[in-house]
Amino acid sequence: MLFVANSSVQLIAAKLDFQSALLTWYRRHARVLPWRENPSLYKTVVSELMLQQTQVKTVLPYFARWLATLPDFAALAAASETRVLKLWEGLGYYSRARNLHQLARAVAALPTPPRTPAEWRELPGVGPYTAAAITSIAFAAPAACVDGNVVRILARITADGSEYRDSASAAKAFTSLAEALLSSQSPGDHNQAMMELGATVCFRQKPLCLTCPVRIFCAGARHGNPTAYPRLAPKLIEQRRVTRVWCERDGALLLHRAAADSKRLAHQHELPTPEQVGVSEATATQGVLIAKRKRSITRFQITETIHAGVSPRGKISPELVWIPLTTLDEITLSGPHRRWITEILAARLKK
Ligand code: ADE
Repeated sequence: MLFVANSSVQLIAAKLDFQSALLTWYRRHARVLPWRENPSLYKTVVSELMLQQTQVKTVLPYFARWLATLPDFAALAAASETRVLKLWEGLGYYSRARNLHQLARAVAALPTPPRTPAEWRELPGVGPYTAAAITSIAFAAPAACVDGNVVRILARITADGSEYRDSASAAKAFTSLAEALLSSQSPGDHNQAMMELGATVCFRQKPLCLTCPVRIFCAGARHGNPTAYPRLAPKLIEQRRVTRVWCERDGALLLHRAAADSKRLAHQHELPTPEQVGVSEATATQGVLIAKRKRSITRFQITETIHAGVSPRGKISPELVWIPLTTLDEITLSGPHRRWITEILAARLKK
């Protein structure tokens, strides 16, 4: 059959064929991932929180270590926050670790875990996507996952020319189509198949249309311009500069420890900014430049310069701590700062 969906209505009319093509492909070609082998509610919850804003290949070693150390909700509920944050170190968005910890404590205190998306959304760190993923995979709940991958697939299939302000409004616009297409027999596999298609075939830049299992349904591929969809308003990239200071005394390094409720950095240590050590930006940048590094966080491109030769002034904030260089491995450092500090110390050893 040659089928091209020019509208969601046509696609929905062919939904059984669409589901069957998608699921057959998924069952044959899905990547072998540890949370898919002998799946359990706990593995699903841990993997879904780790996979928020993070790629599969980054998550894999963290997931393995996590399961080996904290194998179930009870073990996680009983663990200390320090241990939990240490296991999460380098994965970023640390509020996810604290949310997962609190979630485990809530689930462990219940006689049975909740089963519906609405109940899961009450738990910390669980938004609509994660609630749909957890309940469809663990309980076959009929809830569709809609994220950037799913939007891309559906916008291409329907050659949808509307422009969306941002990915959140695009996700909202595609939710009813995603729900209408969801397999009621296998909602968990269907959702994972859509994620898999987005991650391994329907790439943002160069989609592999020739091997796509749902190509016959795709108006974007048929028109020869799948990458024209979805149309998202261009993101404004903002350049930022951040100055950091390297203060060292008696073999210890001065670090800033973020507050527990910091969304991105909960309890992570980083090299302090001039303001945090009570000196001006101008004074700090007069110190020797020992490193210059770039990183991106969401739409910000950040250039960080690290200056030595600065001494803290006045009252040191309780968020500043002197950490002996020999015990740096025992604390939680944000991913980029661990890398930079390691590089700076290694370069010094070579001199
Ligand atoms: N991204 C989010 N959830 C996922 C899952 N279960 N498998 C692969 N990628 C994912």
